[in-house]
Amino acid sequence: MDDWQSLRAECAGCQRCELGRTRTNLVFGVGNENADIMFIGEGPGEQEDLRGEPFVGPAGQLLDVMLEIIGLDRTTVYIANIVKCRPPRNRDPLPDEQAACVGWLYRQINLVDPKLIVFLGRIAATAFIRADFRITREHGQWFDVLGRKAMALYHPSALLRDPSKRPETFVDLKHIQQELSKLS
Ligand code: URA
Repeated sequence: MDDWQSLRAECAGCQRCELGRTRTNLVFGVGNENADIMFIGEGPGEQEDLRGEPFVGPAGQLLDVMLEIIGLDRTTVYIANIVKCRPPRNRDPLPDEQAACVGWLYRQINLVDPKLIVFLGRIAATAFIRADFRITREHGQWFDVLGRKAMALYHPSALLRDPSKRPETFVDLKHIQQELSKLS
């Protein structure tokens, strides 16, 4: 049986891919280890690499607002990424980097044991829902992932670049809130 302490300790020294050599800090994950809902992003950016915490840059500020809209915050959700080290110049994590890293995330999912999983952006959704997942068409729909209900939202960075996508995301968030209310 896995436990948080040993998972963190093992993960801390990870050099399973090249990203381990260029990171400032490994970005493990943050939040409530018993959360009903888990948010999964793509990988750390500059601010996250510097602070060792996911979603603390501009995209993270918007994620905090998105959580607040549905009555959540960082104490009631768990947040992690597909890759735990920053890809250089914020490029997409490569398939072999994702494959090398995702095992840590599977173990985090097992430990949190969330009822709902929300993927932030296309990269996270393609890693777990389907390789040809289309975020523009399929955001806001429920899928079964690891026996749990899962939905993908536009990545907060995409919402910063293109605010016209925000109303659709608001609707998606409300569906997540509805589903959460069924749990309590
Ligand atoms: N974007 C992500 O996907 N994850 C982070 O932690 C920060 C920005």
